[in-house]
Amino acid sequence: MDGQDLVRSLRAVGSANGLRSVRAGWRRHRTDSRGLPRQRAERARVPGSAQGTEPLPGGGVVRFARSDLRVRVAVGGAVFCGWGGAGPEPSYALAGCPEADGRAVIEPDKDGWRVVSERVTVLVSRHGAVEFRTPGGLLLRRDLPPRWWDPLETDRAEGGSPAGGSRWVQRSETAADGAVFGLGGRASGPLLREGVYRLWNTDPGEAFGPDDDPLYITMPVQLVVADAGSHLVFHDNPWDGRVALRDGEEGAGSGHDRPGGCELRVDGGPLRYWVLTGTPARILAGWTALTGRPALPPRWALGYQHSRWGFGTADEVRRVAAGYRDRGLPLSALHLDIDHLDGHRVFSVDKERFPDLPGLARELGQDGVRLVSIIDPAVKEEPGDPVYDSGTAADAFVRDARGRKVQGVVWPGEAVYPDFTEPRVRKWWGGFYAERLAQGFSGVWHDMNEPVSFTPFGETTLPRSARHSLEGRGGDHREAHNVYALSMARAGYEGLRELRPDVRPFLFSRSGWAGMQRYGGTWSGDVSSGWPGLRASLSLVLGLGLCGVPYSGPDVGGFDGEPSAELYLRWFQMAAYFPFFRTHSSITAGRREPWEFGPEVLEHAGAALRERERLLPYLYTLAHMARRTGAPYVRPLWWNHPGDRKLRGCEDAFQVGDALLVAPVLEQGSNLRSLRLPRGRWYDTSTGKAHLGPGQVLLDAPLGRIPVLARAGAVLPVAGAGGGTELEVWAPATGRTGGGLLVTDEGDGWAEPRVERFTTRVEDGEVVVEREGSQKVGYPVRVRGVV
Ligand code: NOJ
Repeated sequence: MDGQDLVRSLRAVGSANGLRSVRAGWRRHRTDSRGLPRQRAERARVPGSAQGTEPLPGGGVVRFARSDLRVRVAVGGAVFCGWGGAGPEPSYALAGCPEADGRAVIEPDKDGWRVVSERVTVLVSRHGAVEFRTPGGLLLRRDLPPRWWDPLETDRAEGGSPAGGSRWVQRSETAADGAVFGLGGRASGPLLREGVYRLWNTDPGEAFGPDDDPLYITMPVQLVVADAGSHLVFHDNPWDGRVALRDGEEGAGSGHDRPGGCELRVDGGPLRYWVLTGTPARILAGWTALTGRPALPPRWALGYQHSRWGFGTADEVRRVAAGYRDRGLPLSALHLDIDHLDGHRVFSVDKERFPDLPGLARELGQDGVRLVSIIDPAVKEEPGDPVYDSGTAADAFVRDARGRKVQGVVWPGEAVYPDFTEPRVRKWWGGFYAERLAQGFSGVWHDMNEPVSFTPFGETTLPRSARHSLEGRGGDHREAHNVYALSMARAGYEGLRELRPDVRPFLFSRSGWAGMQRYGGTWSGDVSSGWPGLRASLSLVLGLGLCGVPYSGPDVGGFDGEPSAELYLRWFQMAAYFPFFRTHSSITAGRREPWEFGPEVLEHAGAALRERERLLPYLYTLAHMARRTGAPYVRPLWWNHPGDRKLRGCEDAFQVGDALLVAPVLEQGSNLRSLRLPRGRWYDTSTGKAHLGPGQVLLDAPLGRIPVLARAGAVLPVAGAGGGTELEVWAPATGRTGGGLLVTDEGDGWAEPRVERFTTRVEDGEVVVEREGSQKVGYPVRVRGVV
């Protein structure tokens, strides 16, 4: 670390914590030098040649000289591959292990074996290469025989194990035209360029921009979109790893394509993976069937929310709430950061500055504003602190290899960390959410859960040798790190469910892993306040949606610094179309209330807020659809057209559901947006002008609005002027039909929602709307666009 880094990190953590963090860094280093297994001599292994097969339900096992490969097609079409005896369970990602599809059987093929199923054919070669082909025979993915390194003295190779303690590497090839998305929350993209991406959840330590990688949520999930078809591959292994991507190249008619390449290196753990194929929508449905459907947020969580690190007092919270109310601006929730805690201790309140939180919550509640609380995992190491004392009695904290509690440094100073990978600890921790509910909070915001321990050198997390329960199997932080936040989310979610069975938990978490959507959403973390940060926040939301995490959004305006009025407004206008719409900023940053940027910004931000309110019936329908099908609310433009190559690289626009297309302004001083339109007729919602895709269009983007287009034939449920739901119907193109959905419920709780389907067509020059299974449409209809 150079001097500049030291200064920066001291600035970030404060000077008192700065000195502690230097000590913590040394402690971490010492713990690991004693606690980690010593590097041993190793030898590289490959499976060798095939010796035979054994049929099993859904496929079978192919035995090689030094390992074996299990191929199993599950009901629903997902394919599991496990080397060296690895099975699908135990897994932190899976919501349950799907049954094998009994119709899929292993049979000899010309160069090895094949398992044929409805959606995909798997071919296993005699040396352990595995191909995934469409039913029509097109190649989607080829995994070359894996390589792994075994310690010399325990000749585990004879047991055939790239699983367990060995590090391993898997090279793969995909179509030359393939575009890769995913790998969790990445700050650039969502198209992942050639390069190396680390799989290790990381707090970047300062506000980040598009070049910072990795960030808080990494996931070994890749969605590959190609002409031959799309597929998702998920390597179910939370160990530290690196994915090196190489772009493919087409041989310009020569017929010699260079395939796209992927090399995955993982430091340990099982070599097992899942492959899902089909359209993007089908893949996301399969992926969220496998790892759990996204939690449904309560309806209020789709409203606009305001946050700040540093409200400081209850009166300041009141002042901000009144600022919104007095200006007639809708506000759904206010978020309290660590400054409302007593000395930054988790599950506490600074009684001087927030003397009556339940009273404040009731008062705000009368205006429809809820309170959301930050929760950090680290517990101040201080006898007398109720969480510390009870955690010590319950043996809840992570220990090192010698049995001592692992200490780190976070906001409260010296701290210890609950081991959320232990079921008993999750239950203990979940019980504390009763304290938050009693204080009047309606939702929780998990932070610093990569987990972070401040240090000016080395990694800002726990020692790799720290011991974890891992559901009783035992292991260390190398395996537990990436699932720490996921397990914390589980603890919080299950705690809230138990404490208030009739209420949907509202939980979002900075860090996480595959399957985190089961418990809630996430946000950008500390995205930097600049035009690049604005772009990064779009990349994050789109990329996470493709990994199955549909509910997210950025710190509007950026976490640090002071955005210009223009930047703030453009950010606000874009985020008004994201599932999680929240302004938030650091204690040292400028204000983020819309009225702090002058009357013009206030007027335009007010318009964005009102449009958000108007779209709530549609957004809530999308939340329900995400729950049912895994489809993200915010989608890339290729979602319905994966074969349109030009759309795969389009990173500056997005769809909201299937009906709307949003083209945010991402550049300073710009009042025009050029946009690549997907196929079909699209209406500019502000002018009503029709545009025909595919093709490039140039749209007006004055400061007052960003271009939003509606798909011809869309039936969009919106809030009417009187507050009731109306249908906004965009005239179908000639000879075409259209439709839309409306999903409604009480806005909370678990009752089955009501799903209404509408269709539209043109008859005798008139737009006709019908509700399926009913004589009457049941809602006022407003037709827009041209017939
Ligand atoms: C880091 C979080 O990313 C940020 O949103 C929060 O304000 C600070 N921690 C303080 O709690």
